[in-house]
Amino acid sequence: MSEAREIREQTGRLGVLMPGMGAVATTLVAGVELVKKGLAQPVGSLAELGTIRLGKRTEDRVPKIKDFVPLAKTDELVFGGWDAFPDDAYDAATVAGVLEKEHLNAVRDELKEVRPFPAVFDPAYVARIDATHKKEYTSLREAAEQVREDIRSFKSENGLDSAVMVNCASTEAYAQPQKAHFDPDAFEAALDRSDPSISPAMVYAYAAIMEDVPYANGAPSLAADIPALVDLANDRGVPVAGKDFKTGQTLMKTMVAPGLKARMLGLAGWYSTNILGNRDGEVLDDEQSLKSKEVSKLSVLEHILQPEKNPELYGDISHVVKINYYPPRGDAKEGWDNIDIFGWLGYPMQIKINFLARDSILAAPIVLDLALFMDLAQRAGMGGIQEWLSFYFKSPMTAPGLYPEHDLFIQQMKLKNTLRAIKGEDLITHLGLDYYE
Ligand SMILES: NC(=O)c1ccc[n+]([C@@H]2O[C@H](COP(=O)([O-])OP(=O)(O)OC[C@H]3O[C@@H](n4cnc5c(N)ncnc54)[C@H](O)[C@@H]3O)[C@@H](O)[C@H]2O)c1
Repeated sequence: MSEAREIREQTGRLGVLMPGMGAVATTLVAGVELVKKGLAQPVGSLAELGTIRLGKRTEDRVPKIKDFVPLAKTDELVFGGWDAFPDDAYDAATVAGVLEKEHLNAVRDELKEVRPFPAVFDPAYVARIDATHKKEYTSLREAAEQVREDIRSFKSENGLDSAVMVNCASTEAYAQPQKAHFDPDAFEAALDRSDPSISPAMVYAYAAIMEDVPYANGAPSLAADIPALVDLANDRGVPVAGKDFKTGQTLMKTMVAPGLKARMLGLAGWYSTNILGNRDGEVLDDEQSLKSKEVSKLSVLEHILQPEKNPELYGDISHVVKINYYPPRGDAKEGWDNIDIFGWLGYPMQIKINFLARDSILAAPIVLDLALFMDLAQRAGMGGIQEWLSFYFKSPMTAPGLYPEHDLFIQQMKLKNTLRAIKGEDLITHLGLDYYE
């Protein structure tokens, strides 16, 4: 057994701050409020419903995760955030159209109270939104200071000791790290001169880290995954994780691909196409935002299948991902996957997956888990990149030079073993030979 980490006690309620209070964020808030009233179950939340085996199989010690590690309780969560529209969470959820009126009306009063701060908004990064609720500032430094002030006032108005930030804002235009992103000093200087390479997503991430608020990025936008902000998070001991919630098609991909590889079945091609009609889909209809999403989705297979290790099976894969905006669908997205595999002696076979998903229904429990686990990480003294939360992301952040682990089942083992390590329990290797000795 390793030594348990010291975990600071959770005092008072936990603030969950979300830049972007659209479909995902409001589905989370409504869901948690329904759970608080005993009107719904937090389906899809590992933190709330999952169990964790401890010790040997013969010991029969399988507590719920939330009873094993000291997570904040759902009753103790308080929500806030920023949006480019002034709607409260009730109106925004109505526009998003994810949840039925019956569900929304049962928590109407609670949702009405959740009103966003004005956004740090730049149309160069999100072209498809005509923001009506944005901050006035003369420099990005001022914008960052305003977000920091929002965090402080949210905490003091709600009497909170701690908060976490989960980015649920629209996907920004594709960007790669620039000079200004390489170290904290360069980043600070870039804030002062309002360098155009600093995006709103980075401003929120910076503000969170400076306020010692753990930051998780649910969008594919470049944010805390730049060296400047990783260094800052390491220096300040603030947990960061990202990016791009793993829902829908990528979730399926990271379940099926490890299975094919486990049985050494070959892959000739994987054609994925999606239609979606919510605001996320509309934003992704812009070429630059779409690129962020496509890049995030594409790398998954390569990392799972490792073509360089098995060129005869995975050396020549044609991987295509298409996303099409189709308004009649709203949040009820549909994904089709055509998977061309081959087996013994190279004989071809096909798998078709038709996933009629609900995007925000899949994403909301991820936001909940990230909020609870990021807060735990903070209280357990784990600053910097939280690779153990890769389970939740399409493009997991890792230490420089490490390739990301995409296989959902390895990610799950990593997550649970991290919880075991935090509590000083034996890690589970699934070896099992000792049962037969
Ligand atoms: N739903 C999923 O399954 C899923 C999966 C992976 C990633 N995501 C990502 O999560 C994010 C949210 O998705 P959604 O379906 O809720 O989208 P949405 O369009 O319903 O909500 C996004 C909200 O962000 C706001 N916004 C835009 N720019 C902003 C800014 N600079 N500051 C503050 N608010 C801003 C918009 O006004 C909007 O209300 C998107 O980036 C999406 O790509 C969603």
